[in-house]
Amino acid sequence: MRAVIFERYGPPEVLRVGDVERPVPNEQEVLVKVHASTVTRGEAMSVRSDELRITRLLTGIRRPRKTIFGSEFAGRVEKVGSKTSEFKVGDDVFGFRSGALAEYVAVPETGAIDRKPSGLSFEEAAAIPDGSLLALSCLRQANPKGKRVLVYGAAGSVGSSAIQLLAHYFEADVTAVCDTKDVELVRSLGASEVIDRFNKDFTKSGATYDVIFDAVGKQSFRGCRRSLDPAGLYLTMDLGFMYHVPLLAIVTKILGNKRAKLGVGRYRKADLGVVRELIENGEFRAVIDRQYTLNEIVAATEYVESGQKTGSVVLTIP
Ligand SMILES: NC(=O)c1ccc[n+]([C@@H]2O[C@H](COP(=O)([O-])OP(=O)(O)OC[C@H]3O[C@@H](n4cnc5c(N)ncnc54)[C@H](OP(=O)(O)O)[C@@H]3O)[C@@H](O)[C@H]2O)c1
Repeated sequence: MRAVIFERYGPPEVLRVGDVERPVPNEQEVLVKVHASTVTRGEAMSVRSDELRITRLLTGIRRPRKTIFGSEFAGRVEKVGSKTSEFKVGDDVFGFRSGALAEYVAVPETGAIDRKPSGLSFEEAAAIPDGSLLALSCLRQANPKGKRVLVYGAAGSVGSSAIQLLAHYFEADVTAVCDTKDVELVRSLGASEVIDRFNKDFTKSGATYDVIFDAVGKQSFRGCRRSLDPAGLYLTMDLGFMYHVPLLAIVTKILGNKRAKLGVGRYRKADLGVVRELIENGEFRAVIDRQYTLNEIVAATEYVESGQKTGSVVLTIP
């Protein structure tokens, strides 16, 4: 089968489309014929793996341990393992599994895989899992139900998911901060107030929030402190300069009312079910920036690497 092969770290040009063995599902897995996948921000960063070298302890120190790229998928079940029961051949599914930028991926039935929401295209479904699962698992750490939450980096994959989850699942009051070009989109996702980051600095406005969710890790606890309520929480997706956020989390827990926390993302099957239900209720949708084909993997990764995407970048697998 054709797949995006990732055998060494470097610029996006190290990625190439080539032939590999089709995976054989074990008795607890299903084999999915992939129709659409994506390049996520996390993956794009893993190609060079130079910004956060510590992650190489997980991904492979000298070269990538997993040699097929990609993780989000939407497609059709082609084969089921003898000990699976949830899916049957021909079911349309979506989910998150390493090695998804390929014609086929084998996925454990207990992993992050669910029925594709009715009415969603494969491209739309593939754009859902990463941002929504990261946002949902991280936001839970802030108990945001009914609170006033500011989302910084609101048009990215995690940010656009966070707004929809906060507005429709956690019933929070959402203020979103994004680029001028994304203001209307972000408003349409459920933010009650949208701040154009090029026109207004929210840290100087005097407004305060229960939670500030920095979805792109571009702010700092120090910078946001004045904009937090006395018992407010700064939750960030990023480890911070010199990985200081985990230390800050411990210090602020011991010392202060205002706290900092690192959002730890998880890809859970149960959460994918929550998101599917929201989609089917019309309360969550995919945000797609650009679409490419598998052969355009280098251009797609370069674009994601730029850090400027709105929502997701999808690749179709003809
Ligand atoms: N903690 C975890 O478990 C975990 C796991 C995976 C990933 N992550 C991290 O999660 C973060 C979010 O991922 P993502 O997929 O949502 O990213 P993304 O989609 O690539 O984010 C793109 C968005 O970021 C905005 N942005 C870029 N630079 C900015 C700046 N200086 N200030 C404000 N906004 C800026 C862009 O807006 P403009 O167009 O306005 O520039 C764009 O809308 C990444 O940093 C990733 O490394 C964390």
